[in-house]
Amino acid sequence: MKHETVVILDLGGSYTQLLARRIRELKVYCAILPHHASLAQIQALQPKALVLSGGMKSLGDQDALTVDPQIYRLGLPVLAIGYGMQLMANALGGVVRATAPRESSPTSLRIAVENNLFAGFEQELTVELSAGDRVETAPPGFTVLATTDRTPVAAMGNRDTRLYGVQFLPAALPSRHETTLLTNFLYKIAGLTGNWTPAAFIADAVQQIRETVGPNEQVVCGLSGGVDSSVAAVLVHQAIGDRLTCIFVDHGLLRKNEAKQVMETFTRLFKMKIIQVDAAAAFLRKLAGVSDPEQKRKIIGAEFIRVFQEEAAKLGPIDYLVQGTLYTDVLESGTAGTMIKSHHNVGGLPKDLKFKLIEPLNHLFKDEVRRVGEELGIPAELVWRHPFPGPGLAIRILGEVTPEKVELLREADAIFIDEIKKAGLYRDIWQAFAVLPDIRSVGVMDNQRTYAYTVALRAVTSRDGTTADWYRFPPEVLARIANRIVDEVPHVNRVVYDITSKPPSTIEWE
Ligand code: XMP
Repeated sequence: MKHETVVILDLGGSYTQLLARRIRELKVYCAILPHHASLAQIQALQPKALVLSGGMKSLGDQDALTVDPQIYRLGLPVLAIGYGMQLMANALGGVVRATAPRESSPTSLRIAVENNLFAGFEQELTVELSAGDRVETAPPGFTVLATTDRTPVAAMGNRDTRLYGVQFLPAALPSRHETTLLTNFLYKIAGLTGNWTPAAFIADAVQQIRETVGPNEQVVCGLSGGVDSSVAAVLVHQAIGDRLTCIFVDHGLLRKNEAKQVMETFTRLFKMKIIQVDAAAAFLRKLAGVSDPEQKRKIIGAEFIRVFQEEAAKLGPIDYLVQGTLYTDVLESGTAGTMIKSHHNVGGLPKDLKFKLIEPLNHLFKDEVRRVGEELGIPAELVWRHPFPGPGLAIRILGEVTPEKVELLREADAIFIDEIKKAGLYRDIWQAFAVLPDIRSVGVMDNQRTYAYTVALRAVTSRDGTTADWYRFPPEVLARIANRIVDEVPHVNRVVYDITSKPPSTIEWE
């Protein structure tokens, strides 16, 4: 590995992933290991610095999480955050006082001495700080860097050993300083150079794929049109050219023009070998008469795998399968490189196919995948496209899926997205789409009574899809969308907007 690596030891706080993203945004690669990682596991990554994430535990808890105290003697700079700082203080001879955790509140933080960690900070500023456990006395050799009225050691550091601790999360700092503290630690204290860029990642990944795949080996990739599989495929294609064959199964449940765009991008622009399978009729036949959402998912999942395997078998012996697995999937599963949440894998491939796996994105977060995609020259429209579920429009048509309903929904969805783009809002939204509930209602058009479908619109903001908030559109944008849908899509006389968040709703309606 050529890039500099920081290892984050995860002490269970919900902040760990966000911390990793922030560090990577500062152009430093970081990997998250569990707090109980052995010294050998940590050293195998050749880290240039360590970060101990915060956590909810208390040192006095029976099940208190710990790290191997030898990590403080590796000569590596350490930034220990929150509970991590208490752990470090305790291990190195400081005094920690355990008190019942309390809600965090805005607290005035005073910088005690000029120091590198707080370079660029004002003498006094407000942070969100909980008055629970705290370090009373810093360990020998440490200087108190910051205090508050109630917290004698709100930050501490030892310039010689480069061990630093802060009682608060960097995210609890005023937004102008959220990255200052991390930048100071990474650049001023650990002396890193910031060599984690999309271009560096691509160079590394391409080399690794070349070293992995033998000269006579064949690789296959299931292309879905989504950003993850697209970026993975282009990367592998850069590495091994025509030894990669992509299979694009069009199940007829994609968004408007999606199949055409995918084919054009990858055949014309990237000159990749792609087999397009037009399986729309087969999928719709299998779905006829089925209205249960889980049943639909099962049918689509099974049919997808059947079609893919049938096509792959025609190619002769295949050695590797490319998967667009992301770092979040790896972290979620707890063991490197295995299963994605089961329902999220519908429309994907099971892991027990008889191929070895290439997962070139399994160290990246979604936003990094997008940046890599841009660097590879994949068109912005594809790179920034909203996520789309494997079972496609089938789980946005409540009840039975028919070709007419698919067509109607696809048109309504295209108008919705078109107007969002025209209003310049597309990238503010995590996911926006139209839904066709199984509802017809009475309306009036050209003085005639109508009895026609209702289209529901869904748009949410989200960080990763696990929670979501409904998007606040300017009312005039919603009005334009509703007018156009009713005017342009036959058999629709009503449009409603979904104003529930997740939880309690989910993003998709099925
Ligand atoms: P929910 O509806 O669970 O969706 O709030 C969260 C995210 O997952 C996507 N999703 C799926 N993706 N197969 C997929 O590949 C599925 O069966 C599936 N169901 C939901 C959804 O679009 C959202 O981004």
